[in-house]
Amino acid sequence: MCGIVAYVGQQSCASLLVEGLRKLEYRGYDSAGLAILDKASGETVLGVVRAVGKLAKLDEALREKPLSGTVGIGHTRWATHGRPSEANAHPHLVGDVAVVHNGILENHLELRAELTAMGRKFSSETDTEIAAHLIDLELSRGASSLLAAVRGALGRVRGAYAIAVVCRKEPDVVVVAKSFSPLVVGVGEGETFAASDVPALLAHTRDVIFLEDGDLCELRATGVKIERMIALGDGSPTSAATRVVPVERKPRRIDWSPAQAEKQGYKHFMLKEIHEQPTAIENTLRGRVLLEEGDVNGAEIGLTEAQARAIKRVVLVACGTSHHATIAGRNWIESIARVPASVELASELRYRDAILGEGDLVIAVSQSGETADTLAAVREARRRGALVLAIANVVGSAIPRASDAALYTHAGPEIGVASTKCFTTQLAALLMAAIWLGRRRETLEPARALELLKRLVEVPTAMRETLEQADAVAKVARRQIVSTDARDCLFLGRGLSYPIALEGALKLKEISYVHAEGYAAGEMKHGPIALIDAQMPIVVVAPDDSHYEKIASNVQEVRARDGRVIAVVRKGDSLIGSIAQDVLVVPFVHQELTPFVTVLPLQLLSYYAADFKGTDVDQPRNLAKTVTVE
Ligand code: AGP
Repeated sequence: MCGIVAYVGQQSCASLLVEGLRKLEYRGYDSAGLAILDKASGETVLGVVRAVGKLAKLDEALREKPLSGTVGIGHTRWATHGRPSEANAHPHLVGDVAVVHNGILENHLELRAELTAMGRKFSSETDTEIAAHLIDLELSRGASSLLAAVRGALGRVRGAYAIAVVCRKEPDVVVVAKSFSPLVVGVGEGETFAASDVPALLAHTRDVIFLEDGDLCELRATGVKIERMIALGDGSPTSAATRVVPVERKPRRIDWSPAQAEKQGYKHFMLKEIHEQPTAIENTLRGRVLLEEGDVNGAEIGLTEAQARAIKRVVLVACGTSHHATIAGRNWIESIARVPASVELASELRYRDAILGEGDLVIAVSQSGETADTLAAVREARRRGALVLAIANVVGSAIPRASDAALYTHAGPEIGVASTKCFTTQLAALLMAAIWLGRRRETLEPARALELLKRLVEVPTAMRETLEQADAVAKVARRQIVSTDARDCLFLGRGLSYPIALEGALKLKEISYVHAEGYAAGEMKHGPIALIDAQMPIVVVAPDDSHYEKIASNVQEVRARDGRVIAVVRKGDSLIGSIAQDVLVVPFVHQELTPFVTVLPLQLLSYYAADFKGTDVDQPRNLAKTVTVE
């Protein structure tokens, strides 16, 4: 996700826009830029300044090339298409038009081909530059205004966008539009603002309009005109045929403090990021799930069909939470793609004289893309002749750069040290990789692939339903972990719930400092059952899947020894739900997809236990967000 700001008014706006971007740096910070209209000399000049790196670099660039003017747009980038570079930084300038954008245009490749065939030249790898060309094209074809040109251009795109546009020929106007990416309008006295999020506006106004998908706005110093693009095509506001109707949207009075606003009113970044997961999954799936073909669009992965068919074994390597994601990935790659797969801790693989080489695909999973052990394991694997696919959240980070291919999660920056939204988006990427491999190798029937993909695109809805249980989970955390001053906790799971048990234990220990262990439930009799007594909470991950009967007997074994059971069960479960002390309820999902919902109550359980205990939830003691040392 990126940060967008826009201003129309009486103030010279360069520093105002940069300050707005600074409040949005948590949304992305690998490059930034401004475009400002200056009418001072009589002839309107459209000035653009961009810089790679954090906002301090843009400050430096503006000192060298100051921009003046009272109408402008700004952007701080979190790369999704095209590595961090000045050429890929926003605003993108085409003719008299400058554009900033947050989102993913799914049909960017076909539009780029169409525009190239018309003789248009591109200077970046981004999907945003295509929008700038489309708007410029509409103007060259006689669009009556910038608003009309943007409306016509957006009728050609599919996907997600929050966009802001200025044009040298209309120096008193900024046009903004929203579809599936956040955008708000700030209403001031003789000035109007727009931004990706409220924090960028609070220094100037607390009267904020939250735009809705399909909204298209013309901002002037005197106020905002809003119209809504109604799809006549497939129901998305940006399908080819659109009707336009004017709409009135009343500003809301925002009473958050700036600190609260940065967390969108949540108490901690971790809680905000837990609740962001359904959207993060939607963004990670966007443009990749091809329901019509029952397939995954692997164009950006960078592996050929021949390479996919030549793979004899997959070795998944990672650390920490990412390691837990790879365990689920291993299960999917074997059960869906029918390729032998194994899981390795990066800190072990890099030092073990492992047998790796031609025919092996190493999948390295890393949120930061900078974890030292994982990077070293990748380098060792390539040295031995294996093919390496990186799954990472940071475009252009070290691990994807050291790999043969990359598939990015689109979770946006994860600020909380404890990984949440990056974990579930890693699951989505791994499942898509398994389906893509299975279809390339013809080991996955198209009908089964389609069934899995249909269920996968429904997962965000099931996740939203699960997150509605947050208050109930908070009560269980207080009752079972905080009030009892629990010192030890056991998490049990089988199959795809085994990595979820491991992840739940890691979350609890890393933010609440309660010792916790995740265990394969089938291992209970081989030792852990000796630990069980009335003081120990046992969290059992027991969704409606093929392991249910066995895990139910594990629960009875625990209850027979006075263990206190907290069970994650499907809504309506009457067996385990009736013998556990507490239940954390999830909706039914396809049994290959249970990790997406069963991990959520465990993230919340740990969050509330830590919050009630008063630990530093976003920055727990001794931990760093990225472990770049060994
Ligand atoms: C998880 O909550 C921790 N932040 C930690 O285990 C993390 O997953 C691990 O350090 C790996 O980081 P990476 O995904 O950036 O490689």
